[in-house]
Amino acid sequence: MKFFLDTANTDEIRALLPSGLVDGITTNPSLIAKSGRKIAEVIKEIASLVSGSVSAEVTATETKAMLEEGKYLASLADNITVKVPLTPAGIETCHSLSQAGIGVNVTLCFSAAQALLAAKAGAQFISPFVGRLDDIGQDGMALVSDIVEMYDAQGMATEVLVASVRHPIHVVEAARIGADVATLPPKVLHQLYRHPLTDKGLEAFLADWQKTGQSIL
Ligand code: G3P
Repeated sequence: MKFFLDTANTDEIRALLPSGLVDGITTNPSLIAKSGRKIAEVIKEIASLVSGSVSAEVTATETKAMLEEGKYLASLADNITVKVPLTPAGIETCHSLSQAGIGVNVTLCFSAAQALLAAKAGAQFISPFVGRLDDIGQDGMALVSDIVEMYDAQGMATEVLVASVRHPIHVVEAARIGADVATLPPKVLHQLYRHPLTDKGLEAFLADWQKTGQSIL
């Protein structure tokens, strides 16, 4: 399973690159706003930092304007994936952009029916928002499981990109289900490392090692 970072904060991205764990980036209008930067400037910088897919989202709501924005965003770098919302205009835009060879990430997906439309429209990625479903008492990971099962049954190539990830269990469950990608807030990626027994065990190893008076080099 690929790990994308869900952020437009280039400092957070740079800090995690040495881990080798970052396969791509997703952004959205809220994350761009949070960065306080112009979209073209920050997306170009992000696309220069990672070789994998960088999702940049259109903000128009009608097909013609979505297409214009999508083609512009795709022109910013070779690894841009254009993000469109799962609306009728978004599906039309996905169809046109994918026909033109531009990768599309269809976002704000909350049902298997919506995911079926995205795959039929040629989406490179579908982004089911698991956290926002959990937030209203629905089972976000059940949706991911439904989409993976449906795509497998139909031989659909669209990659399932689990989004709106809130904690490490979402990441583990996504991997267990067979999702292709999880996009993680940097905070969640940092949480994946942590276990108190690891800290405790390392402390004990180093304390015993210090008693030997040795150094490896
Ligand atoms: O970027 C898409 C998605 O990951 C947003 O998640 O946390 O705003 O529900 P969130």
